[in-house]
Amino acid sequence: MQLWQGRFKKSLSKTTNDFNSSISFDSRMFREDIQGSIAHATMLGETGIIKKEESLHIVEGLKGILEDLLSGELHFDMECEDIHTFIEGELTKRIGDDGKRLHTARSRNDQVAVDIKLYLRHEVEEIISLLKDLIKVIASKAKEYYDTVMPGYTHLQRAQPITFGHHLLAYGEMFLRDLSRLQDCRKRMNINPLGSCALAGTTYPIDRHMTSELLGFDAPTNNSLDGVSDRDYCLEIASDLSIIMVHLSRFSEEMIMWCSWEFKFVELDDAFSTGSSIMPQKKNPDIAELVRGKSGRVFGDTMGLLTAMKGIALAYNKDMQEDKEAIFDAVDSVKMCLISFTPMLDTMTVLKNKMRSAAAGGFINATDCADYLTKKGIPFRDAYKATGALVARCIDLGTDLENLPMEEYKKVHSAFDDGVYEAINLEKCVADRTSFGGPAPQNVMKQAEDMLKKIED
Ligand code: ARG
Repeated sequence: MQLWQGRFKKSLSKTTNDFNSSISFDSRMFREDIQGSIAHATMLGETGIIKKEESLHIVEGLKGILEDLLSGELHFDMECEDIHTFIEGELTKRIGDDGKRLHTARSRNDQVAVDIKLYLRHEVEEIISLLKDLIKVIASKAKEYYDTVMPGYTHLQRAQPITFGHHLLAYGEMFLRDLSRLQDCRKRMNINPLGSCALAGTTYPIDRHMTSELLGFDAPTNNSLDGVSDRDYCLEIASDLSIIMVHLSRFSEEMIMWCSWEFKFVELDDAFSTGSSIMPQKKNPDIAELVRGKSGRVFGDTMGLLTAMKGIALAYNKDMQEDKEAIFDAVDSVKMCLISFTPMLDTMTVLKNKMRSAAAGGFINATDCADYLTKKGIPFRDAYKATGALVARCIDLGTDLENLPMEEYKKVHSAFDDGVYEAINLEKCVADRTSFGGPAPQNVMKQAEDMLKKIED
């Protein structure tokens, strides 16, 4: 069923109708479509464009449709072109001629833009709340493991000692940025396109400020062409979601490594792990792998949206119907990932001893050994070279800096003395890294508490 009857002598062919139709994926916006129509009808009544009683009749009819859709009494008619067509048709079926007045001074072009914005505003708010849940878990874990020594890596080679809390808080910072990006985007998108009509506004005395207020928008859009052509909010949300997926995917990759026998820094709870159909010993981090895998989908959605928008002349073009499946998929995927990832993180067991023994290998205190000499007045580059020679000597002798005898130290540089053993003690190496943003336990505790406070505000 189409709304655009009158001009055509024939109806659409079945395949064209199927190809053209969007109700299979835009029906999820039925609440928003009805909400937008109620605001529009109210405004039409208040401005005298239609009679008050006609307006009330329409609003009452729309409320009945909403109720019946929610209760399951009313089903979508999949023969309709889209959700807008279905609801207007159903309204007229129910209330007669007054239903036909609803689309006065409106087009599906501004209607669909309003629906998507209302729908996405709600979804963005949900994702913001899911991100807050994740950040809370990260910060609480960071408090719990504020002094748990682990190796920090560069190039996936053991580099310098850090704490597990510090490592977790690095992700906390990423998700805080994601949160502020979404909050920012929500603010920018909250402008009302309704009343842009098909593209050129209208000659009716509509009140766009009234519909903006009724729908919780901050203002009406300034330009009617832009109002119906703009999908920046879809591009922006998809981009923000893509960055969230980059962060979740990196975190997942680390979780997967940490679960392996090669690392065994953490063990996932059984409720968040899977087994193998053939290998009885297996416990697999499927959830983390799926999250990592789903990042590709969300990037694809973003790329699809950018490409769909890049070459279309103003104003509405049917290409824009492609926006919905992409942005819905991105939103659904990110929500599912966050809903699964957060409790997986929350329930993991942290194997502190494994982290500590990994930190003891790989000479991650070599920088501290060089710094010990530097603090005695030796230029850093010379201290660096001397320590390099010590590491080579340790490798030859099959030992580490902690167990290398003092005479070996002296051979390399006469300024070494017994104080070096304390200076390269891993707990001390971490505890002394008190520079702002560094991994010292007291820093981590404060950063974690600040993060929790930020989220609660
Ligand atoms: N189903 C359409 C969409 O999602 C609604 C807008 C239709 N407008 C039009 N001029 N054909 O984009």
